[in-house]
Amino acid sequence: MIDDLSLKKKIEALKKSKQAVVLAHYYQRPEIQDLADFVGDSLELSIRASETDAKIIVFCGVTFMAETAAILNPEKKVLIPDVNALCPMAAMLPAELVRVYRKEHQDAKIVLYINTLAEAKAECGAVCTSSNSAEIVNKVDSDLVLFGPDTNLAHYTSNFTKKHLVSIPTFGFCPVHKLFSKESILKLKRIHPDAEVLVHPECDPEVCKVADCVGSTSKMCKRAKESPAKKFIVATEVGLLHKLQDIRKDAVFIPANNEAICVNMKLHTLEKLYLSLKNERYVVKVPAEMAYKARKALEFMLK
Ligand code: 13P
Ligand code: SF4
Repeated sequence: MIDDLSLKKKIEALKKSKQAVVLAHYYQRPEIQDLADFVGDSLELSIRASETDAKIIVFCGVTFMAETAAILNPEKKVLIPDVNALCPMAAMLPAELVRVYRKEHQDAKIVLYINTLAEAKAECGAVCTSSNSAEIVNKVDSDLVLFGPDTNLAHYTSNFTKKHLVSIPTFGFCPVHKLFSKESILKLKRIHPDAEVLVHPECDPEVCKVADCVGSTSKMCKRAKESPAKKFIVATEVGLLHKLQDIRKDAVFIPANNEAICVNMKLHTLEKLYLSLKNERYVVKVPAEMAYKARKALEFMLK
């Protein structure tokens, strides 16, 4: 068993010798965030993945994020330290189901949240993230939009568009963001009346209603940076608090639920990251035709 300090040194050395870059989502363990070359939300990570000139990308996030990096970089080696880091919400909308909905609504355009499998992305017209969902929905050339898999993001997005959104499937949700309740946030608010409430749009609509700011993980970071408040109640996966505290050392961040942990995101450890770099495993591959179609939908967003 190698200690953390030696692991960190070995990872840094391998990154240099192999011209590798480590991209990490905000929900990663603090020690992984600290070692990453870039930490961001889904949109920023896609942009970074499309711009990097590194030879190897090691993606510390869930598999749909690593797949996105592979789709945008067909000539690069994309690695993920643990292949079991799956997003359960992404699994709620397999490609087969997208095709069924498309048959039922032939006059609609399909916009899919980036939290989908590559096979589903290949079936849609445009991809969006929680940072730009309304912008993308407003850009597609149809007033009827099939939107999935997150019904809560669909609900939030519908506040910013005149278009008719149909949720596909009708039950899609993030099990981590389902753990927040309006009651527990209001209870915390009574204890900390001066705190601002930051909420991710994957939360239920009634939770979003009690927020001072609803947005992606990066939007929450931006709000914390710019707000004069000294206390924040945070309704998203607890990993974000590491970054928030780093951005605002003078502020107090209170998790709206300590148990909001995405176990899949937490599968990556320093040791697995080290082994991933050392043995160049596990390679994330998306079949060429599927990648070509999914890239078009991603490029619509990135444009
Ligand atoms: P962000 O794009 O806001 O980081 O969200 C990703 C995610 O998986 C939220 O659960
Ligand atoms: Fe998926 Fe939810 Fe985990 Fe985000 S927090 S990766 S949506 S399960």
